[in-house]
Amino acid sequence: MSNLTQPTTFTGMKLDNRFALAPMTRTSADPDGTPNGLMADHYEAYARGGFGLVITEGTYTDELASQGYANQPGIINDQQIEGWKTVVDRVHAAGSKIVIQLMHAGAQFQANRFTDQPLAPSAVSPKGQPLGFYGDQTAWTLPMAMTEEDIRAAIEGFAKAAANAKAAGFDGIELHGANGYLLNQFLSTHFNHRKDGYGGALANRLKVVIGTVRAVRDAVGPDYPVGIRLSQGTVTDPEYRLPEGEDGFRQIVTAVRDAGADFIHTTDGGVDQPAFEGSEHSLASVVQETGGVELVINGGIDETNSQSLAQQFPQALLAVGKKALANPDFVQRLKDGKAIADLDFAMLQPKATITNELAWRKANAA
Ligand SMILES: Cc1cc2nc3c(=O)[nH]c(=O)nc-3n(C[C@H](O)[C@H](O)[C@H](O)COP(=O)(O)O)c2cc1C
Repeated sequence: MSNLTQPTTFTGMKLDNRFALAPMTRTSADPDGTPNGLMADHYEAYARGGFGLVITEGTYTDELASQGYANQPGIINDQQIEGWKTVVDRVHAAGSKIVIQLMHAGAQFQANRFTDQPLAPSAVSPKGQPLGFYGDQTAWTLPMAMTEEDIRAAIEGFAKAAANAKAAGFDGIELHGANGYLLNQFLSTHFNHRKDGYGGALANRLKVVIGTVRAVRDAVGPDYPVGIRLSQGTVTDPEYRLPEGEDGFRQIVTAVRDAGADFIHTTDGGVDQPAFEGSEHSLASVVQETGGVELVINGGIDETNSQSLAQQFPQALLAVGKKALANPDFVQRLKDGKAIADLDFAMLQPKATITNELAWRKANAA
């Protein structure tokens, strides 16, 4: 346990330990996207439970097409900034740092207060079905291919949201470039069929991601932590792989690093599983080998493998998702040698809301 639960520095932040709460959508904001007391209690619980860093759920960035789910929080106006300030203050008072995840839904669009029309790289829907625990939608709405003006507006939305997050007191920004949301869609040959300068070769598919990292960096200044979450698979297509394989992923890592990202957060089914055909390398090991950027790793981290992963990735933060939902005090339990529960998905049914979680906890005395 030693090194994992010792204080560390990450992108200049002083953290109590190397455990981070993974970003998890809870669709529990007020209907207008304002974070509320329920959310403040929720995030504070993970800080009290020992997580050195809390990463928030995916938060929308503009009043155009970025919102993807009903009751998703946003960070686009003063009221939402005020709501987040309370969350940030509560997490800080409990001794942890907090980074906001900024997300544009793109084609993975189930509900949006501002528009019924999803915008995405191309008029292509995600594979599979909409996520039942985020809404009642049973079919995807076909997105419209973004114009250059739409692309500029989406990047500007990320930049303004980042400035708002800094004003709310967040300790840093994580861009959601994983799991099939907009930035990931530009990288993906499933979603991106564009014939212009944003499609085709990976160097073209990277342009929106690079443009977003740069715009966010400009908005928050040189000394403020900015990172990006990256995956190959998506929420409805975990098997998707970049056609460019390991070399392509290395190209993405290098490009976002050179555009000004301080950290990369990899997520995969298993942190250290081989991620590319014909290679033993994981996403995380490619980032570690590339260097020049800090690392957060995610995917299947639990009480049995955290120590060996900490040795394999000696500088990385370990982001915990499902085990944290089941045990908001996961880190404290690990330190104390106490039992750690598995997540019972009934806790997130019929919807992944905090209210349903609390009802489940009451019924199960957990
Ligand atoms: C209820 C739920 C909501 C999630 N929401 C997000 C999200 O908003 N942003 C994101 O990047 N990943 C999201 N994820 C994925 C997790 O961050 C994490 O990558 C995944 O659960 C795998 O890690 P684990 O094995 O530790 O659970 C979500 C996962 C769950 C279970």
